[in-house]
Amino acid sequence: MVNEESTEPEPSEDPRYAGFPPGFFDRVDPSSDHNFYSEPRIVTHIDTDAIAAVGALYEELKLGGRILDVMSSWVSHFVDTPDDLVALGMNAFELEENRQATSWVQHDLNLNPQLPFEDASFDGVVCCVSIDYLVRPLEVFDEVHRCLKDGGVFVNSFSNRCFPTKAIRGWGQTDDRGHVSIVGEYYRLTGPWRDVQAELRTSAAASGDPLFAVWGFKE
Ligand SMILES: C[S@@+](CC[C@H](N)C(=O)[O-])C[C@H]1O[C@@H](n2cnc3c(N)ncnc32)[C@H](O)[C@@H]1O
Repeated sequence: MVNEESTEPEPSEDPRYAGFPPGFFDRVDPSSDHNFYSEPRIVTHIDTDAIAAVGALYEELKLGGRILDVMSSWVSHFVDTPDDLVALGMNAFELEENRQATSWVQHDLNLNPQLPFEDASFDGVVCCVSIDYLVRPLEVFDEVHRCLKDGGVFVNSFSNRCFPTKAIRGWGQTDDRGHVSIVGEYYRLTGPWRDVQAELRTSAAASGDPLFAVWGFKE
């Protein structure tokens, strides 16, 4: 049950957060995500080339089988739809509209980072243009690791746009290179993950939305 009155959880006492500056995971708008995401947004958050870059990466990584799209909405950007795609996000209307998803779950990862899935039940997990909204990313990474099969990939992709009041302050206070470092730290502090890679997946010469990705495989 979602509590509309609830606000940000207390800062985590998990010692893995000790290396991040105070206030890094605070947000300008600490009110419940339920409020912010209650109205459906049937929009795209990055341009066509950046979306194509997400799909191309999923193809390159041969994502198939049972896949989880966390922080999902009405689009999941796969070129080839996986056999079984579970979409998890905040807005039921958006998730219901997701034509690639075989099922969906409404779940607030900031209120409860635990994923409602069995251990080792997914071949891959993706998170597109959303990692910057997590206030307890390490716990979510732990959970993604738990739910992945051995060798399964976790792909994070992001651009330089966001809902600024809902992104963590640490994200808003740095640039593209800093964003890649932040996500890289999340992999380093969780897992174990192997072969963690980071790339700019759109052309550096292009004028549209850049698309960065960081991904790694469950060891
Ligand atoms: C910028 S949109 C990106 C949606 C989609 N992944 C895409 O590629 O278009 C951010 C998404 O993050 C999800 N989200 C934001 N806060 C969340 C939370 N606390 N728990 C779960 N999902 C969340 C929202 O439902 C929203 O769909």
